[in-house]
Amino acid sequence: MKRKSSILSITFASLLAAVVVAGCGTGSGTGQAPANNQAGGQEQAQPDTEKKTLVMATSADYKPYEFHDLSSGKDEIVGFDIDIANYIANELGYELQVTDMNFDGLVPALQTNRADFVMAGMTPTPDRQQNADFSIIYYEAKNTIVAKKDSQLDKPEDLSGKKVAVQLGSIQETAAKEMAKTVTGLQITSLNKIGEIVEEVKTGRVDAAIIEDTVAKGFVESNPELQFSTIESDEANGSAIAFPKGSPLTEEFNRVIEEMQNNGEMEKLINKWFGQE
Ligand code: ARG
Repeated sequence: MKRKSSILSITFASLLAAVVVAGCGTGSGTGQAPANNQAGGQEQAQPDTEKKTLVMATSADYKPYEFHDLSSGKDEIVGFDIDIANYIANELGYELQVTDMNFDGLVPALQTNRADFVMAGMTPTPDRQQNADFSIIYYEAKNTIVAKKDSQLDKPEDLSGKKVAVQLGSIQETAAKEMAKTVTGLQITSLNKIGEIVEEVKTGRVDAAIIEDTVAKGFVESNPELQFSTIESDEANGSAIAFPKGSPLTEEFNRVIEEMQNNGEMEKLINKWFGQE
């Protein structure tokens, strides 16, 4: 009796240990190496469980950079940024985990170590550079005015006395505030998701939106009642990857971005997501 129960408890203890060890291998969170998987023998070695997981935060409302694709029947985040992130993670031997949040929560997520990096078509502004480190620029875009086709809202001057929607915390919000200094009566509505912003334009609750060209193009293609006009005087908005201040990943990522720029991989992805340019 005594003996039997101790055998039982040994079996139970080893079972438990196996469960714990198995649990260590996945979803390790932010850049920390998972405990080494020591469970030898019983199962096929799974090289993937040995890899560190990097958590990437994004705001998946930004087709073709990052967006929810439901076409396969399940909800997947895909896009230009996701392909680049997967390529880099793979090159550096990391697993990738993508988490979706509002755009204005991204830099705070880095500051509180809830993410190892951010890819969200994000432009390194001096403000953001105070709170995060940035990779080299991997893509350039311009701002546009999105409005109804018959609106004749093509240039910043046309936005006088108009309601203009922008994404909260974006450089488009900053650009609108800048415009409002010279364009009289321009009123700004800041919203979390680009989809909501486009909806506001379509329903006429706002007159126009300021959105990046590549993203505006997609929305205008799927909403024929809308048009977009590039703001010519506007300087280019480069996209870069953001990291927590002092992160060793910045260097490693820069190395792979340069490699992608030299081996044609970046051009391939630009063609895939933005069409031939
Ligand atoms: N490039 C702009 C910025 O850095 C907008 C980026 C918005 N990105 C997004 N995933 N919604 O502020």
